[in-house]
Amino acid sequence: MANDVQLSADGKLQHLLHIEGLDKTLLTQILDTAESFFNHADGSIVKKPVLRGRTVANLFFEDSTRTRSTFELAAKKLDADVLHFDVKGSALSKGESLKDTLQTLQAMHIDMFVIRHKENEIPIYCAELVGPRTAILNAGDGNRAHPTQALLDAFSIRKHKGGFEDLTVTIVGDIRFSRVARSQIAVLKTLGVKTLRVAGPDSLLPEDVSAMGVEVHRNLDDAVSDADVVIMLRVQKERMDSDLIPTTDAYFAEWGLTPERLKLAKADAIVMHPGPMNRGIEIASEVADGPQSIILDQVTNGIAVRMAVMSLIMSGRH
Ligand code: NCD
Repeated sequence: MANDVQLSADGKLQHLLHIEGLDKTLLTQILDTAESFFNHADGSIVKKPVLRGRTVANLFFEDSTRTRSTFELAAKKLDADVLHFDVKGSALSKGESLKDTLQTLQAMHIDMFVIRHKENEIPIYCAELVGPRTAILNAGDGNRAHPTQALLDAFSIRKHKGGFEDLTVTIVGDIRFSRVARSQIAVLKTLGVKTLRVAGPDSLLPEDVSAMGVEVHRNLDDAVSDADVVIMLRVQKERMDSDLIPTTDAYFAEWGLTPERLKLAKADAIVMHPGPMNRGIEIASEVADGPQSIILDQVTNGIAVRMAVMSLIMSGRH
């Protein structure tokens, strides 16, 4: 990626803005570091005070349950002080610019900003603005990138499947508006997944889908057939200008993951979803709550992966 500000001259992670530009060694280092935060005796996540004396600010311009909470828990497990910036109650509503807001917060000696925004590339803009002494962690921008989600998904796949090289991974649904799908494709390709498939109705496939280097399926049964991993995505109506799906019932009939459809995948296939789920639209409750679902484990893994990213960025600064 041109003008990539996320790596230092010697290749250390300074910001996490997107997966593109990060090589397999660095991605694997992030996953291994996340692994080291688990206590394997009881599955708990250990505390490690590598951010003691540092301050992390969460700036969420879009709503969030999982990402915001796990970033906060991750920062606290690393012993950082955490500032929750309340976007709705801030001077942004009085017309203060994002630039002035960021510089004001920077004057409060923030070491890391975790930023989610509905517009593409806002985290890149922020990284260029704050410079290398303050880190920007992208918690999702528009439909462009959601790197920590993709990393926690890769971590979850490795944990349950042991690696990537022999796998068929299928990503289903609203690929077009999904920042998660874009980052997942980048991470899984770099980590060497054997077969990467995307599937969805034409209206929800991106225009550049044929250039993404993935198999494109327009039929869910074919896409799920013999898969090791099935990742379902939420239909993101809030990002669509018009109704791009017919009705939710029709969508579910064609694109919903049901127990019958899941039987077409490998017997030990796992089912994933970044959340929040639309039950009965992209996924049946029996599947979401069933034995092959690792959806809640993804959430837990998100804490360790976010700890890993924050601690690696911090160690690159010493
Ligand atoms: C996703 C997001 O916000 O991009 N959720 C998440 O972070 N776990 C996906 C979505 O909103 O559908």
